Amino acid sequence: MRIVRTTDYKDMSRKAANVISAQVIMKPDCVLGLATGTTPLGAYSQLVEWCDKGDVDFSNVSTYNLDEYRGLTNDDPQSYHYFMRQNLFDKVNIDLARTHVPDGSNPDAEAACSEYDRMVREAGYPDLQLLGIGNNGHIGFNEPDSCFSKGTHCVNLTESTIKANSRLFEREEDVPRQAYTMGVQTIMYARMILVIASGEAKADAVYRMCYGPVDPDCPASILQLHTNCVVIADEAALSRCP
Ligand code: F6R
Repeated sequence: MRIVRTTDYKDMSRKAANVISAQVIMKPDCVLGLATGTTPLGAYSQLVEWCDKGDVDFSNVSTYNLDEYRGLTNDDPQSYHYFMRQNLFDKVNIDLARTHVPDGSNPDAEAACSEYDRMVREAGYPDLQLLGIGNNGHIGFNEPDSCFSKGTHCVNLTESTIKANSRLFEREEDVPRQAYTMGVQTIMYARMILVIASGEAKADAVYRMCYGPVDPDCPASILQLHTNCVVIADEAALSRCP
């Protein structure tokens, strides 16, 4: 696990966008695993700017997102489908048919998850997987647990995640209680993993990810075992790390 220390959020975002665009330049038909949330917003807007300038070309790129709330339609403004279109897909020259997000609108969890696993497997798994990290060490929506998860599955969100995500909803009651998420094992199949983190609230989780025991109580800690994982984080997020 390599750690890249950045001064602030802006610096983190630019460096992360550099890594993603290098991947796309080196392999124009690459498979990207993508994340939602607040952390990647700066990197996505940097990629949009570079795409506008013709510096990065997404026309042959395929993407697979980590997760989606269960029970929201794909055009619900709170859905991750919508988030990805708003913040990246509609703003770069990607072919929408090559973008994939678990189908939260399918109430049949088993069918939705196994279909998503099939698609990710047939795509050959991501060349580069972008990850944020939850305050409790979750990756995707893989919450602290007694074992590491495998493929895409339906999860009950923890109170801490519901609270953290409620900032994006009008009321806490509106936050969906379940989500479909890629499993930890699937995430580990990516050939390269890029974790981004910013701010003091992530300091504990980042410390446990990088230096704690590999323990499903902090799902991100398994990334210590990945042979090509880079953490790009700002001073505040790395403030507990040596
Ligand atoms: C989002 C996801 C989550 C977030 C994490 C951090 O697709 O999988 O694991 O990356 O909750 O969220 P932010 O960036 O909002 O702090």
